[in-house]
Amino acid sequence: MMERTFVMIKPDAVQRGLVGEVIRRIEMKGFKIVAMKMTTISEERAKEHYAEHEGKKFFRDLVDFIISGPSVQIVVEGRDVIAAMRKMNGATNPAEAVPGTIRGDMGIETGRNVVHGSDSSASAEREIAIHFIESELQDYRRIDEAWLYE
Ligand code: RTP
Ligand code: MG
Repeated sequence: MMERTFVMIKPDAVQRGLVGEVIRRIEMKGFKIVAMKMTTISEERAKEHYAEHEGKKFFRDLVDFIISGPSVQIVVEGRDVIAAMRKMNGATNPAEAVPGTIRGDMGIETGRNVVHGSDSSASAEREIAIHFIESELQDYRRIDEAWLYE
């Protein structure tokens, strides 16, 4: 099914100069970037984004980390992209993420795990609405679509 997901390149990856590498993997896979911007997320928005983790012991550190500097917000479109992007990101703990995944190749610790990806279609819809307005989403065709989809 054609889907959209929300991806964030987290502040650690921006500071480490990994923005291009993450975007390269998304593009190389054949997924379409339909929205993208760099912002420093506000505390309010970070808390909304990670609302499911409110009350957990790592919540404060997670929010502080996410708002600590610029991050890149991306909407990615493609067939079954929600699950595919989670696979490309790898396990939450980079120590357990297999080589070949973004976290497996680029991270060491759970609290500095490079990238975020929505975990379901409901989350994707919710998260896209937190970070983007409708007019920021681009509607276009990639020239290689006929060679990506049968
Ligand atoms: P994300 O939401 O960032 O894509 O990561 P995820 O689905 O793989 O993991 P999730 O359970 O949603 O956790 C969100 C982020 O919180 C941090 N975390 N810290 N210290 C801990 O036990 C712990 N657990 C999670 C991670 O940065 C994780 O990406
Ligand atoms: Mg999550």
